[in-house]
Amino acid sequence: MALANRNLVTIDDLSSGEIEAVFSLADKMADSMDEQFGVCRGKIMASLFFEPSTRTRLSFETAMHRLGGNVISAVDIGATALAKGESIADMARVVGSYADIIVIRHPWEGAAKVVADYAGVPVINAGDGGHQHPTQTLCDLYTIKKERQTIKGLKIALWGDLKYGRTIHSLIFALAKFGANILFCPTPGLEVPENIIKKLTTEYGGELEKYEALDQADKRGLFPLDAIYLTPGSPHQLAMMPNVSIQAELKTGVDALYVTRPQKERFATAEEGRELNKRYPVVDKRLLKGKVFKKTLVMHPLPRVDELAYELDADPRSMYFKQAAFGVPVRMALIALLLGTKEVSILKEDFFPQIDYPLYRRGFGVRCPNPRCVSIQASETKYIKPEFKIVNRKPLTLRCIYCEHGSEPKYVASSDWHEGRLANKKYHSAGSHWARKIKPENLIIFDSESEAEAHGFKPSRYARAHH
Ligand code: NCD
Repeated sequence: MALANRNLVTIDDLSSGEIEAVFSLADKMADSMDEQFGVCRGKIMASLFFEPSTRTRLSFETAMHRLGGNVISAVDIGATALAKGESIADMARVVGSYADIIVIRHPWEGAAKVVADYAGVPVINAGDGGHQHPTQTLCDLYTIKKERQTIKGLKIALWGDLKYGRTIHSLIFALAKFGANILFCPTPGLEVPENIIKKLTTEYGGELEKYEALDQADKRGLFPLDAIYLTPGSPHQLAMMPNVSIQAELKTGVDALYVTRPQKERFATAEEGRELNKRYPVVDKRLLKGKVFKKTLVMHPLPRVDELAYELDADPRSMYFKQAAFGVPVRMALIALLLGTKEVSILKEDFFPQIDYPLYRRGFGVRCPNPRCVSIQASETKYIKPEFKIVNRKPLTLRCIYCEHGSEPKYVASSDWHEGRLANKKYHSAGSHWARKIKPENLIIFDSESEAEAHGFKPSRYARAHH
């Protein structure tokens, strides 16, 4: 499929073949920078950054200038009509009538999707809260490919805040798409959210092996490791015993160590209270002396705070300034492809087809429990109706189509009550057999008893069942 007029909201929007195509154009553009001026002549990019940014905004704007296009920008929510209570949808419609392409960073998760739904021009997500940051992932993968030629079969360790790091969330799915194995090394308390692990194991296949399963003796000499995800790109590995495979995997070393800073701006009060920074592990010369890190690429999306020592900057394994520099050619290629001023042939199609989950789109009964989700903000509820993918029936699990948070609502009912008699409107526990019995098109979901009762439903004898 051609890339012209498409959006890049999550990394799922691009197949591995399309990502390779962006990279091959980025290579060409990097080799002949001076010849690119004019590729986007007469085009306008709107650069909307409603959260702090140095690299992402400046590399996007540099990219557009190098392509000979123009840039309009808003970098402060307080200076836009959003501060007056304007909705994101209205802003998107208006900016879409001025610019040919929009790049947006916003603290609300799912905000970039709303912009894409309303703008009518291609939209690129430059970071939406703790959700995703797909163009950082493109820079990360491009760096790995430049250094190692391939991504398939590599072992990439993800270090630090894996809970709130949006670069981590995009990178995880991209690595799985390319057949890399992922080692999770979270700061305790900042592990990868369950909904991401579920999506990884159900949609990308593969297996997650917990480090806890290892014997004490096997753990000796290992760096802080929580789990390993083995992609089906390397099926022989799946056949091995878990304990053996972790050890065997690490024998040949870690190919890249991807370090992240604690995303304090998104910490819940409890996490702040625990003073995570005191326990936040530091990557320094001493850690990298370990045998497994001998040839490891040290990566970081930047900015760093205390988690990555400056003494590593001169180390040939350090890649972080290269990652930042690659932001320009990679984003040049992406902008030109989405604007359709350049075309590339896509070589291969994705190995992982996306699953068509049934949708829950009644617009009532449940709302996304994620406090940072765009769908529940006062300025947005006037036009956004909550919408979820039903990703599992046992336990009944919903995934918000905006922020992708997972939730397990408590009650279900059927719209197919007998002869439409109000007296027969009953709700049941989502843990009862009814959660699977009611046809998806009839399913009504409630997150509380009061919500069910407000809609005229009475508890059935299965309202409190737990089986
Ligand atoms: C990251 C971000 O904004 O998510 N920065 C970036 O774009 N390179 C990482 C971070 O802020 O920690």
